[in-house]
Amino acid sequence: MKTEDIIKGEQQYILQTYGRPEFVLERGNGVYLFDTEGNRYLDFVSGLAVNAFGYGDYDVLKAIEEQSAKLMHVSNLYHTIPSVQLAKMLVENSFADRVFFCNSGTESWEATLKFCRKWGNTTHAKPKNRLLAFNDSFHGRTYGSISTTGQPKYHKGFEPLLPGIDFADFNDLASVEKALTDETCAILVEPLQAEGGIYSATPEFLQGLRDLCDEREMLLVFDEIQVGCGRLGSLWAHQQYGVEPDIMTLAKALGGGLPIGVALLRQKVADAIQAGDHAATFGANPVACAAAVVVFGKLIEDGFIDTVREKGEYLIGRLEKLQERWPEHISGVRGRGLIAGAVTQRPAADYLAAFRERDILVATAGADVVRFLPPLIVEKDRIDEVVDVFDEILRQGV
Ligand SMILES: Cc1ncc(COP(=O)(O)O)c(C=O)c1O
Repeated sequence: MKTEDIIKGEQQYILQTYGRPEFVLERGNGVYLFDTEGNRYLDFVSGLAVNAFGYGDYDVLKAIEEQSAKLMHVSNLYHTIPSVQLAKMLVENSFADRVFFCNSGTESWEATLKFCRKWGNTTHAKPKNRLLAFNDSFHGRTYGSISTTGQPKYHKGFEPLLPGIDFADFNDLASVEKALTDETCAILVEPLQAEGGIYSATPEFLQGLRDLCDEREMLLVFDEIQVGCGRLGSLWAHQQYGVEPDIMTLAKALGGGLPIGVALLRQKVADAIQAGDHAATFGANPVACAAAVVVFGKLIEDGFIDTVREKGEYLIGRLEKLQERWPEHISGVRGRGLIAGAVTQRPAADYLAAFRERDILVATAGADVVRFLPPLIVEKDRIDEVVDVFDEILRQGV
């Protein structure tokens, strides 16, 4: 099929929920993607924080190949090996006692909302089931997720949303205290708001939320779907704060490119959940779990996460220098680890096109942030290349 026929076919047959650029990606290798015309792109999107080990990682491919040949799917009616291996690794390397497996970020978030309400409704003399979420957050596109996402653009046209949800301002404990009620059972927060514009929580804020949850018998939930699994330069984002949640959601990078979602829970939450309370046909899929076992093993390999932190500091440092040089174009640099954002005066989308013309793929986070999300295996030379190209774009104008 010719490139133009594929693009025409996409426009004719696929629901138009995305605006895609005019090229067709065919294969990937390391930190590079190749299109059907033979062009090579340096990838600073990583499939939206999924491809931590780039494309074609030998160990991930081998695990997928071997597990596919053995067993691809049997449902959760039966025991399987990879799910238990992965669950054990996740529990042994986190605050959690139990995990629930599903297939995407939004699914793990939906599961989490149910777990919070079941806990609140059944473990208190007077049921508690309101949820407190944050303005500018992002938790996915299904109903519970958009209802707890504090950005009206994701709600518009889809009302009525889920009831029983209150919102407060991120990094503002006074606004949290104001929004809490006696019926609030959980506070739901991203340690770094990624889609909302790359805003890190302050240490006082996360610690304050933990204290409030302990004082008022509420659960603290961290959405680490985008920023967990090493992205911030620590295995879990919250480790940089020394504050632990009661539930954490993961997805994206964990599956090495295959769909997976996980809710990690403390035992006190698990105690409120009975057999039959929640389910997912494809959850704990043996192939996705086998890939995740390898991905997770590589993440926790001695020294690997340190390299992410180091390269993240380098990327952010170089972007800050660019900001000093071009203050009329870049008004701020935000981020941590290998998620970085440059706040631009012009619409961020203009820069995406300019980068693409120079064979580099970057993303946006909101209207005015150019987001850099390289694979975690990226080398410093490639970071230099991207920042140098940004410099050139700013010099030449978009
Ligand atoms: C913080 C956060 N939560 C939830 C989601 C939803 O994940 P998914 O697209 O896998 O449903 C995303 C996706 O970008 C995310 O960044």
